[in-house]
Amino acid sequence: MPSSYGLRPADTNSIMLAAELLRQGGLVAFPTETVYGLGAAACNPEAVARIFGVKQRPTFDPLIVHLAEATVVQEFAEVSPTAEKLMQAFWPGPLTVVLPKTKTIPDIVTAGLPNVALRVPAHPVALFLLRAANMPIAAPSANPFGRLSPTKAEHVMKYLGDKIDLVLDGGACERGLESTIVRLKDGQLEILRPGPVTPQQLEQVTGCPVVMPTGDKITAPGMLKSHYAPRTPLRIVDKITAGDVDPHKVALFFKQPTFDISNFAATRLLSAGGDLIVAAANLFSALHELDSMAAQEILAESVPETGLGIAIMNRLRKAAAK
Ligand code: TXA
Ligand code: MG
Repeated sequence: MPSSYGLRPADTNSIMLAAELLRQGGLVAFPTETVYGLGAAACNPEAVARIFGVKQRPTFDPLIVHLAEATVVQEFAEVSPTAEKLMQAFWPGPLTVVLPKTKTIPDIVTAGLPNVALRVPAHPVALFLLRAANMPIAAPSANPFGRLSPTKAEHVMKYLGDKIDLVLDGGACERGLESTIVRLKDGQLEILRPGPVTPQQLEQVTGCPVVMPTGDKITAPGMLKSHYAPRTPLRIVDKITAGDVDPHKVALFFKQPTFDISNFAATRLLSAGGDLIVAAANLFSALHELDSMAAQEILAESVPETGLGIAIMNRLRKAAAK
């Protein structure tokens, strides 16, 4: 067997190969609708341990377990009626639900926590792979710990290509932002990570109050302040103006600017029309590109903090944190 199969288009043959590699304890990167995941057999502790090694991820930071369908969830977690509503409404999709785990999930997956994070991704390649492997797949985002999440196969190759067994190329991720993570606590829904599923949607479906963790309190391992960080220092401003133009800097615009931007070292636009869905889908890709220019600073324009904008600003603040 070659040491790595490298990058393969996600056709039937490569997905079957990926499933076989996973069954043998290997590591395979695959596309989801949010970001690329780095998968291993969730019930194989040694395979899961390899994920932590390759990502240089601290073992106190638990992994999301991906399932092919909601009907198998009872094998892995205790499901409450509210959790049931969430799964019915949002799976397959960009929502991760944190639930009390069963013994089937090894402790290394949850970093010793009594809860497991679960989701069914809405991506044909991910679903095909989950069905072909016929087992749950633990998968964090396929980036080294603390770096920008990958939304294209080439991002994964650049980061981890030589360290993992196979990368399935399924094109750019449609959502571009990691899943919303929610935990049920005392009749409330606690958002551990804002994402594509918004607080309003969660409240509508469950009728439960939704709370966002505030302040500096870390209630989930993934709430570390600095995360998703580019190498280039990033500064958030309300609006980038003509006075900010600087040939040593690169700029990330939310909307189409109305002044001459040609004297920036480089610029990227999240959405010409100021659409938050489009902006979310382009965010990490734009940051990857701007980060590769070795500029003095990335200037990033704020987006309105409503709906998906909450998740976008969350990622920008983490990218800006030292
Ligand atoms: O969209 C996504 O969620 C992507 C794709 C690949 O599915 N995955 C992803 O995984 O973003 P990762 O590992 O990069 O982020 C998962 C976050 C981490 O911050 C982790 O701390 C948190 O989920 N998490 C995982 N299990 C948890 C648990 N049992 N309790 C609380 N937080 C948990
Ligand atoms: Mg991640």
